[in-house]
Amino acid sequence: MDTIKLYNGVEMPVLGYGLYKVGPEEAETRVSEAIRAGYRLIDTARFYGNEEGVGAAIAKSGIPREEFFIVTKIWINHSGEEKAYASIHESLKKLGTSYADLILVHQPFGDYYGTYRALERALEEGLTKSIGVSNFYPDRFYDLVSHCKVIPMINQLETNVFCQQTGMRELMKEYGTKVMAWAPMAQGKDNFHDNEVLAGIGRTYNKTATQTGLRFLVQEGIAAIPKSSRFERMKENIEIFDFRLSEEEMNIIRQMNVMDTGTRDYTSLPYVTRLINQKAL
Ligand SMILES: NC(=O)c1ccc[n+]([C@@H]2O[C@H](COP(=O)([O-])OP(=O)(O)OC[C@H]3O[C@@H](n4cnc5c(N)ncnc54)[C@H](OP(=O)(O)O)[C@@H]3O)[C@@H](O)[C@H]2O)c1
Repeated sequence: MDTIKLYNGVEMPVLGYGLYKVGPEEAETRVSEAIRAGYRLIDTARFYGNEEGVGAAIAKSGIPREEFFIVTKIWINHSGEEKAYASIHESLKKLGTSYADLILVHQPFGDYYGTYRALERALEEGLTKSIGVSNFYPDRFYDLVSHCKVIPMINQLETNVFCQQTGMRELMKEYGTKVMAWAPMAQGKDNFHDNEVLAGIGRTYNKTATQTGLRFLVQEGIAAIPKSSRFERMKENIEIFDFRLSEEEMNIIRQMNVMDTGTRDYTSLPYVTRLINQKAL
């Protein structure tokens, strides 16, 4: 598996298994399958409610803990330094490990400065190897990096062939922050899996549109965490390291970037209304 080196020297697999919407009752089985398919980076979150399943599958795999790269996140109801610090310990307990490889502030809501300070403290105490944020767009990202002690190593953003985050990548390059792509397959929307441009390019290599779209991301130096609940698809999604897209093909795919910053606007009225209705803050 290719890796990405974070600015603090930590090596991170460029492809991982994501667990959004994988229920707690199926998480252990799904992660065991993902491990069998070859995944070693596992992306979970407190909000997903499946950290225990991740921990159980890793423990039962018989593979040494150091070979895994475990990512988890702090949800907005645990924002603020003390609550976030407690949430980190709780997550580690659920994951059955003494340290995470990466912990992220899930979304920039609540006292996320306090949340981030808890991450800095966890990093210092060896509770995690690296820290970062998720869904931090230009204003909040720039504000945070201007005021924090440790620059985030990762910003996990909606990133796929249709929203390539070129603007954010350019901004983050200044700080050494790398992108990790959530929804790397556009959550199946916009006919991603049957996209004709991707399928056409993939045909040359005997690869599917899905594999071509994922290969594009990793070749751009973007880590991706595709999710699937089916073993065959987990395998398909990881079998992208035996071919290389030409620069011409990369340029064709770069033209597919129709909405650079993505579809999920966390500052929009509908999203904020949802938070209000859920009494999330
Ligand atoms: N930080 C954040 O705010 C945030 C937000 C969203 C997601 N995430 C993380 O990013 C991960 C990935 O994002 P995502 O799950 O939203 O979307 P995604 O990985 O882009 O797409 C997942 C969808 O694609 C389908 N699929 C997977 N492989 C396929 C294949 N080879 N052929 C056809 N269909 C396939 C899956 O269905 P099946 O399961 O039925 O195969 C599922 O419906 C999440 O699991 C989570 O870990 C983070």
